[in-house]
This record gives sequence, C-alpha cells and structure tokens, in this order.
Amino acid sequence: MTRIIAGAARRFRRHMFGPLPDDPARFARRRSPVSIDLSRRVALVTGATGELGRSMTRTLAACGAKVAIHYYRSGDAAQQLCDQLTASGADACVVQGDIADIKAVEAMRDQIEATLGSVDIVINNAVTWFEEGPVVDQDADQFDRVFRSSVLQVWATARVFSQPMKDQGWGRIISLGTEVTSQALINRAPYTAAKCAMDGMMRSLARELGEHGITVNQVAPGWMITDRDRRDRDEVQPEYERGVALRRRGYDQDVANLTAFLASDLAAFITGVRVPVCGGNVMVEA
Ligand SMILES: NC(=O)c1ccc[n+]([C@@H]2O[C@H](COP(=O)([O-])OP(=O)(O)OC[C@H]3O[C@@H](n4cnc5c(N)ncnc54)[C@H](OP(=O)(O)O)[C@@H]3O)[C@@H](O)[C@H]2O)c1
Repeated sequence: MTRIIAGAARRFRRHMFGPLPDDPARFARRRSPVSIDLSRRVALVTGATGELGRSMTRTLAACGAKVAIHYYRSGDAAQQLCDQLTASGADACVVQGDIADIKAVEAMRDQIEATLGSVDIVINNAVTWFEEGPVVDQDADQFDRVFRSSVLQVWATARVFSQPMKDQGWGRIISLGTEVTSQALINRAPYTAAKCAMDGMMRSLARELGEHGITVNQVAPGWMITDRDRRDRDEVQPEYERGVALRRRGYDQDVANLTAFLASDLAAFITGVRVPVCGGNVMVEA
C-alpha cells in the first residue's frame, strides 16, 4: 500500500514539475527555465591573465558579454586570450595598467569605451602576490603593495566606472575575496589584512551605490583547481580536503559560474554579500 502511494506521489510530482533530480539524464536534457544572458553588457575583468581571471573572462564571454581583458605584465597571454575569444565570435579588447593607479584606470576606461562601449560590469580580480612569513618579519612594502592591489583597486575602479553605471541605473561590481579572511592562518597577514579591508570597502560601496541599481558583491574562493594545478598534476591535496565539507577542491569554473550569476539580472536583488565558493571549508556566520 505504502509503495502504491509513494509511486502515485512520484507520478504526480513528475506530472507537475517534470523529471526529478534523481533522474539525472532526463534532468540534464530538460531545457532550463533559467539561463544567464549578458548579451547587452560590457565587462571588465582585471587580472584576466591570471588563473581565475582567464576562466571568468571566458565564461562572461560565453554568456554573451563583450569583455575587456586587463593585464599588468603578461601582454602576450592577454592577447592570446583575446584572439581565442574573438575567433569564437566574442567581442573583446585588451587593456593594460597598474590597477591601483587612477590615471591608468581612466586610460583603460577611455580605451574600452572607444572599442566596446561603456562598462556595465567590473570584476576586481587582480591581486599582487607577496612573500609568506610571520607578521613581525614582513616589511611595510609588502603590506603596502597588497593593500594597493586589493583596496585601492576597488576604490579606483569604482571611482572611474560607477558614474556611467549610475547614469544608466544598472551596474555590477564584483570583487574576488578569499576564504582566508574567515580563517586565522599564519604567515599570510598582508593578504588577509588587505582582503578584510577590501571587504569593508565593498560593504560601504554596496550601501552607497544601491539606490542607483548597482549591486556590489564578493566571490570568495577556496583553494581552487586551475590550469596551474592541472599542469603540475597537484589537484588532489588530502590535508586541505579533509577540512572541506564536500571533501574535495573546487574548480576555477565554480568561481566563474558564481561570478556570471552575480553579474546577471538573476542576481538583481543581491548586494553587499560575500559568497564563499569553497565547498564548505568556511561558512559565513549566521
Ligand atoms: N587561485 C585561488 O585558488 C584563489 C583562492 C582565493 C582567492 N583568490 C583570489 O582570486 C583572484 C585571482 O587569483 P589568481 O590565483 O587567479 O591570481 P593570479 O593567477 O596570481 O593572477 C593575478 C593577476 O593580477 C594581475 N596583477 C598583479 N598585480 C597587478 C597590478 N599591480 N595591477 C594590475 N594587475 C595586477 C596579474 O597580471 P599580469 O600577469 O598581467 O602581470 C594577474 O593577471 C585574487 O583576487 C585572489 O585573491 C584566488
């Protein structure tokens, strides 16, 4: 009797809602009612030559956005990515500059506007690396460089790109945070401090820009698998994975997926958040 009722309930749910998630082949073939369409948008990805930057740039382009590929020193890599994207039919251009230098960011804006149009989506992804070590062994220059690339990057891009977003009543500012800000790790103080400060800047921006239809959010990756890991064949890191709720590392594409979602109209009512993409290695406080 119980089996008959359960079967009837399953048929009713299938009738009402389509194939069930436990029927993966049919579920995958089903046309999704939700898709990410960025076809009228121009996106700037800073540090697009980096490990996560490449993946986010490709994904935004695949969703239809015109993409400005920013680099600092890796000009060849930026041009190669641009060539790949334009060969696949996307609109793309390459821009260069120190991302914390307001003059350089203004020059980038002028170049992007002349080639792709006004920027609707800014992805603050670039970061300057630093030597790991205890706080007392760090020199001030390390703090200064990482602070500039995190906090002043957000300041400079908001200062330069938010006005056109305000004018049109629509904009997206997305910055790359990190799970590290929710941990107390040794030897990473310049990075942790800079990203925590960036978090404060992003929350202030979310309040200040919300009334103009501009959302301001953070994507906070864990230790992701990128091309570098694939090349070095070190995707599996058992010690790290033990602390992850899903017991594995995530992929660069996981970060790109969330970024594309937050950049889209689907996320129109989400602002001021920092979303970890780390398989539950850290969890936001309740
Ligand atoms: N990878 C991860 O697992 C992970 C985990 C947590 C958080 N994140 C965050 O995700 C973001 C990307 O990380 P990633 O590992 O992909 O970085 P990455 O591979 O080291 O790339 C860094 C990028 O930043 C650019 N850059 C460095 N200094 C710059 C400056 N002064 N001005 C302008 N651009 C500059 C570099 O440009 P050039 O190469 O052209 O010089 C490069 O494209 C960062 O914000 C990072 O904190 C990453």
